[in-house]
Amino acid sequence: MRITETADLWYKNAVVYCIDLETYLDSDGDGIGDLHGLTQRIDYLAEIGVNCIWLMPFYPSPRRDNGYDISDFYGVDSRYGNHGDFVELVRLAHDRGIRVIVDLVINHTSDQHPWFRKSRTSAQNPYRDYYVWRSEDPGDTSDQTMFPDSEDGIWTYDEKTGEWYLHHFLHTQPDLNTANPAVRDEIAKIMGFWLQVGVDGFRVDAVPFAINQTTFEGRDEHDLDEPHDYLRALRAFLQRRSSGHGSAIMLGEVNLPHEEQMTFFGGEDGDQLTMQFDFFTNQRLFLGLARQQAAPLADALASRPQNLSLETQYANFLRNHDELTLDLLTEQEREEVLDAFAPEEEHRFAGRGIRRRLPGMFGGDPRRLRMAYSLLFALPGTPVLFYGEEIGMGENLDVPGREAVRTPMQWADAKNGGFSTAKPSQLARAVAEGSYAPEHINAAEARRDQDSLLHHVIRLAKRYRESPEIGWGAFEVVEQEHEQVMAHRVTWEDRSMVLLHNLRSEPVTVSFELQDEEVGAELVDLLDEASCVLDSDHTAEVQMGGYGYRWLRIRRAGDPRLV
Ligand code: GLC
Repeated sequence: MRITETADLWYKNAVVYCIDLETYLDSDGDGIGDLHGLTQRIDYLAEIGVNCIWLMPFYPSPRRDNGYDISDFYGVDSRYGNHGDFVELVRLAHDRGIRVIVDLVINHTSDQHPWFRKSRTSAQNPYRDYYVWRSEDPGDTSDQTMFPDSEDGIWTYDEKTGEWYLHHFLHTQPDLNTANPAVRDEIAKIMGFWLQVGVDGFRVDAVPFAINQTTFEGRDEHDLDEPHDYLRALRAFLQRRSSGHGSAIMLGEVNLPHEEQMTFFGGEDGDQLTMQFDFFTNQRLFLGLARQQAAPLADALASRPQNLSLETQYANFLRNHDELTLDLLTEQEREEVLDAFAPEEEHRFAGRGIRRRLPGMFGGDPRRLRMAYSLLFALPGTPVLFYGEEIGMGENLDVPGREAVRTPMQWADAKNGGFSTAKPSQLARAVAEGSYAPEHINAAEARRDQDSLLHHVIRLAKRYRESPEIGWGAFEVVEQEHEQVMAHRVTWEDRSMVLLHNLRSEPVTVSFELQDEEVGAELVDLLDEASCVLDSDHTAEVQMGGYGYRWLRIRRAGDPRLV
C-alpha cells in the first residue's frame, strides 16, 4: 500500500516538544498545571520554533503511573480542565502552526477502568476477555516486569475468580487483550474520537507489548493475523480518518534495536508506525559522550536501515520523561555510562537507567550542554525536546523514582518558579532546588539573555527548519582523523551539509575531504560568522573549540541560496 501519495509529511522536519500538563503551568492556583495554563504559553513555544506538541496523558486516571494508567480514554482529567479547554488549546496551537499529538496508551488501562472492574467480577463477564487472564500459576516472571523495583512479576493473582491477569507494567495497569476484536474496535473509536476533536496524531505507548499480546498462549481463539497486521490496520484507520485535514501520525515507543524497529515501520512499505523514537542511537550517543568518542554514535546512525520508506521518520531525543534507559547496551557499556553520568546510587533507576536531566549529568558544563543540543538538532531525523530542556532545567532527586525529572516548569525567579501561586506544599511535585532552582534557571531570564541556552535552542530550531537536508536527507559519516569528533554529512536533492561536533573539552582542528564537490565551494557556517573554502585538494580545514560544533552548508559557485 502507498500510504501517503497525497499526504503532508510535516513531521519529517518538525520540532517536537513533550509536555506534562501537571507540571507545566497552573492557571487557577490549585498547585496542578492545566490546559488553560499551557494555552497561555503557546506563544512561548512558537517563539522556540516548536511546531508539534506531544501531550503526555491528561485523561482521568488514579495516577499510579503519572497518568499512563487511564480510567477513561475519552475524558479530560478535571484537574486539567475540560474538553472545551482542550479544544481551545488545539485551536490556538493550530493558529500558530503548531500541531498537537497525544499519548495513546493501548497496552493497558488502569485497574479502575470500568472494563477491568467488570472483567474481574467473573470469568464469564463479557469484559473478561478485554484483558489477559490465565488459570495456571505463571511461576516466577520477575525477569519480565518493566518495573523490577516495585513489581515481582507480570502476573497478579485475583482472589475473586482465582486467576492471574497480565500486566507488563504496574499491577494497577492490567494489559488489554488487543487480540480481541472488541478491544480493537474500542481502540479505533478512541483514536477516531481524538482525531475528530482535532489532534494531529498519537505518541503510541509501549508498542511492542501492545501488539505482541496476540502471541500469548490461550489468545489464539480469535483466529488472529500476525501482530504487525494489527499495527498496519491501525495506521490505515488513522490515514482514513485524517485524510481530510493533513496527515496524522503515529509516533511509536519501540525500545528495540534498529533491525527490529524496521518491522514496526512496516519494512519498505512504511505502512505501520509513521515515526519511532531512536532508542538505540540515543543509548549509543550517551556511550559516545561518556567515552568522548564519536564511533558509537556514528556506527549507530550508519546502522539505521537504508531502505526505509520516505514517509517514515526517526525521532531523536536526548532526555525524555522516563529514566534514561540503557538497556540496549552491554553490561560493561552500561557501567561506563552510569559511571560517567550517574555516579551516585540516587542518580540511577532500576539498575538500567538514569533519573537525571542533562545539565546534572554534565556537571552543569554549559559548553557541553550546547554541543549536545546542537548534536540533537543535527542528527538525521526529527528532534524531540522534553519541557524545560530548552532552559537547562535540572532534576530534583528528592522526588522519588522517575519523577525526579518531571518537576514544575521554571518560568521565573518567583514563588514556585512562577509555575503556580499555590502553597509549595500543594504543588503536584516539588520544584528543583540548589543550583538548578528557579532563581538560577528560569524562562524569563533566559528570554532576556541573548546568550542563554534558550536562545541557542531557538537558533538551532530555526536552522534545523531551514535545513531540510537534516530531516529528509541521506546520512554519511565524513572521514577525518579525530576520534572525539562526530563528523557527518546530510544530503537532500541539491543541498548538502557537513555537521561537526567535538565531544571533548580540548580544541581541535579538523580536516576532511569532499571529493565530489568543486574546488572553491564555500562551507558556510550557519551558526557562526566563520566559513571556509574547499582548497585545491578538495579539502577543508575547520577549527573547533572545546565542545565546539559547526553546521556547514556547502555553497557551490553561483548558488543563489540564502545561507
Ligand atoms: C511508557 C511511558 C512510561 C510509562 C509506561 C507504561 O514507557 O513512557 O512513562 O510508565 O509506558 O505506560
